[in-house]
Amino acid sequence: KCLREDEPSEECKNLLATLPKEKGWISSHLYNYKGLWIGHAKTLQGVLAFQQHFQAQDSDIILVTTPKSGTTWLKALVFALVNRMNYPVSGQHHPLLFKNPHDLVPFLELRLYFDGKVPDLSSFTSPRLLSTHMPYASLPKSIQDSKSKLIYLCRNPRDTFVSMYHFPNRLGLSYIETNSVEEIFDLFCKGVSHMGPFWDHVLDYWKESLKNHTRVLFLMYEQIKEKPEIQLKRLAEFLECPFSTEEETSGVVDEIVKLCSFENLSNLEVNKNEKLSTGVENKVFFRRGEVGDWKNYFTTEMVEKLDHIIEQKIQGSGLKF
Ligand code: A3P
Repeated sequence: KCLREDEPSEECKNLLATLPKEKGWISSHLYNYKGLWIGHAKTLQGVLAFQQHFQAQDSDIILVTTPKSGTTWLKALVFALVNRMNYPVSGQHHPLLFKNPHDLVPFLELRLYFDGKVPDLSSFTSPRLLSTHMPYASLPKSIQDSKSKLIYLCRNPRDTFVSMYHFPNRLGLSYIETNSVEEIFDLFCKGVSHMGPFWDHVLDYWKESLKNHTRVLFLMYEQIKEKPEIQLKRLAEFLECPFSTEEETSGVVDEIVKLCSFENLSNLEVNKNEKLSTGVENKVFFRRGEVGDWKNYFTTEMVEKLDHIIEQKIQGSGLKF
């Protein structure tokens, strides 16, 4: 069962059928397109159209994550931050109170280019706030060549894995029963996961952030959880819209943190009972929103295996999980 029912083009279906494949879990299979793991012909269609047609603007702000790394949270935080002059955070009419963050900051390959056509982006005002799950190497050249800003949110792979493990269940996908946690875990460790390998995804953006820190900001989910105000101020400085002293003393930073908190967003009517314009229920994006939930799922063998892989993959990079 696909997330959406509309049919991909024959060309994409045929191309997908020629690609190496593995068992999947959010989709029944994962297909490897030039090093990138993709679940459906429609996603491939979106990826290709995005790569071929997207024209970046220097003022674009593009949010990047692997699935289940806290994308929804990052979208809320950056939307509230960038639009704080237009939409006062304490106001009763703030868009985040009535719309899910995915409707306010749309995915490029999974939404705007999903139909394989060139979308009309003329209603987006500058700076355009957009998002993607694509690895750095697969981004359209126009993004790589532009001065657009990339904000990358990374999450501990253990919690990302657990969140991914739960996601098909939350979407109500039926074949989940046939997947054991061990089987999915082995795939994840091998790098077989949506828009993965996870390891290359994280490392490539990490390296880009070190090379060009005014262009790519690398954030960690766990650090935002620990000190949200500090990370929000980092974000504001990176986006060249730092908080003024007046804003800080009047509590704007805290208000944004509160507005975007798991407790607040997940309890809003819109996120409890409404759907995205794509038909996906908003509540699927909110589960526990905690650090360390992996401890409730990992066996000793899983802990050892992942520790070993993490060490191998990220040693010498300066990254720590
Ligand atoms: P869990 O499954 O561990 O609870 P994504 O947004 O990339 O799909 O990631 C979803 C994960 O982020 C889920 O993790 C979800 O609960 C968590 N999440 C969603 N909104 C959040 C928020 N405002 N603050 C912290 N975590 C949030």
